[in-house]
Amino acid sequence: MFFKKKKDNSDIDMNNLPQHIGVIMDGNGRWAKKRGLPRSAGHKAGAESLKKIVTEANNMGVKYITVYAFSTENWKRPKSEVDYLMNLLMDYLINAEKTLAGENVRIRAIGSRKELSEEMQEQIKKTEKLTSDRTGIVMNIALNYGGREELINAAKQLCKRAAAGELDPDELREKDIDDNLYTAGQPEVDLLIRTSGEQRLSNFMLWQVSYAEMVFVNKLWPDFKPADLHECIRIYQGRGRRFGGI
Ligand code: IPE
Ligand code: IPE
Ligand code: MG
Repeated sequence: MFFKKKKDNSDIDMNNLPQHIGVIMDGNGRWAKKRGLPRSAGHKAGAESLKKIVTEANNMGVKYITVYAFSTENWKRPKSEVDYLMNLLMDYLINAEKTLAGENVRIRAIGSRKELSEEMQEQIKKTEKLTSDRTGIVMNIALNYGGREELINAAKQLCKRAAAGELDPDELREKDIDDNLYTAGQPEVDLLIRTSGEQRLSNFMLWQVSYAEMVFVNKLWPDFKPADLHECIRIYQGRGRRFGGI
């Protein structure tokens, strides 16, 4: 007996979708290299993939998607590549209003903003404001994001409250940490996808992926299609999540 890979998503249980999907969009550079193109061409192709995947996730009814666009470690790359990525992200934010307008996507940026250009910071505020009343999927763009930085930031807020006598350190709860993350108020990540065959977190959402199902895909990010998203969700639905129980 052999199985035919399903082309549609009719076998996906829409009542058991991951509420929050995290995506480590990796492999743009290798995609370009394979074609003899500059790395920038890979990033451009990756941005196209992103649009399609967010649209599909929204159409399916996924509520939150967090995409890793630029890590706190990515500043180590050559300046020309960093500049290209920043320009691409800027364009993405500017055009998001237009390209995702019919899609009802609410856009937010997560990560440390103070290292970003004034221009970028302004555009983030603008895009967030313009899309704040949308009722579809919430898209967190992780931009100058690092999981450790996020936790340090949360610790700072909590220490300040403790020093001011507003918080008893012995009473610290998970919720106090949750409430001080960039994702405050959002559900934790259910499904984490990383493309390009690498199997590591690279400082992505360290707290929020504690019980996420991880799916590592060999395809490079620019080759990742809506059908691949369906496949990841099928894999997710086939897993037994126990959260420490039996
Ligand atoms: C992911 O692709 C995009 C970013 C990190 C911004 P890479 O640029 O890491 O591509 P590879 O891993 O070098 O192929
Ligand atoms: C992680 O990919 C960051 C993003 C996808 C934005 P990297 O390519 O930077 O991660 P490493 O260096 O392979 O761990
Ligand atoms: Mg990479």
